[in-house]
Amino acid sequence: MLQSPATTNRRTSQVIPPDTPIIITIDGPAGTGKSTVATELARRLGLDVLDTGAMYRAATAIAIDHGIDPDDHERIVRTVADADLHFDWSKTPPPILAWLRPMDDRIRDEDVSALVSKISAIPELRRHMVRKQRLIFQQHPRLVSEGRDQGSVVFPDATVKFYLDADPRVRARRRAEQLARRGFVVPVDEMLRRILERDEQDSTRSDGPLVCPEDAIVVDTTDMTLDEVVDHLAGLVHARLDRDG
Ligand code: DC
Repeated sequence: MLQSPATTNRRTSQVIPPDTPIIITIDGPAGTGKSTVATELARRLGLDVLDTGAMYRAATAIAIDHGIDPDDHERIVRTVADADLHFDWSKTPPPILAWLRPMDDRIRDEDVSALVSKISAIPELRRHMVRKQRLIFQQHPRLVSEGRDQGSVVFPDATVKFYLDADPRVRARRRAEQLARRGFVVPVDEMLRRILERDEQDSTRSDGPLVCPEDAIVVDTTDMTLDEVVDHLAGLVHARLDRDG
């Protein structure tokens, strides 16, 4: 989208001063636009961005590609630990690497999407990921981190917590459009079924379930464009920083 000079100036001035440590969490169900919003918000505020869903997707792709039984938790965690998941911070958004090799679009494939909720419910795997995510924050102390449990479990003291939501049918349409851009056609009704199933699994697991943290700001993105969501969130972050001095 083209931006007017006035808009560009306003956005450039939104960068948060480099000496200010800050952690912004964005949680919410699939298809609410979290990854795109987090990436754009981080760019606008001059922060790094962490896509924690990519970490669980990478673990799932590794389990599938190594032929590991999804119920063999011990072997999954051992193999994922051995892969030493890392992000390449020289790129925006940072792609995820396993055994130092980029995983590229493999993590977005449908077999991975279909299994990721089950794999991400493994308590030992979640503990491993939470440790890694906190370590990443130590190395990147100006961070927008998005996922399902970022404000509730991983960074309970986050500077600002957001929870994005949207009408399930709109979320299904967005996900179907994303897949269509990669050449896969999934009818919206089928996508809706998959999304509702994944919501149910993500929010009912015992460890780090998808919940809206009590102190999170809830934003319904159903009728909002990406720019509108990012404008809104950036404004709220600055208001919070101004208020807290
Ligand atoms: O945001 P996403 O669709 O890429 O996330 C993929 C899956 O990973 C999602 O179904 C739930 C899981 N996930 C999680 O359990 N905890 C996170 N912090 C992020 C994602």
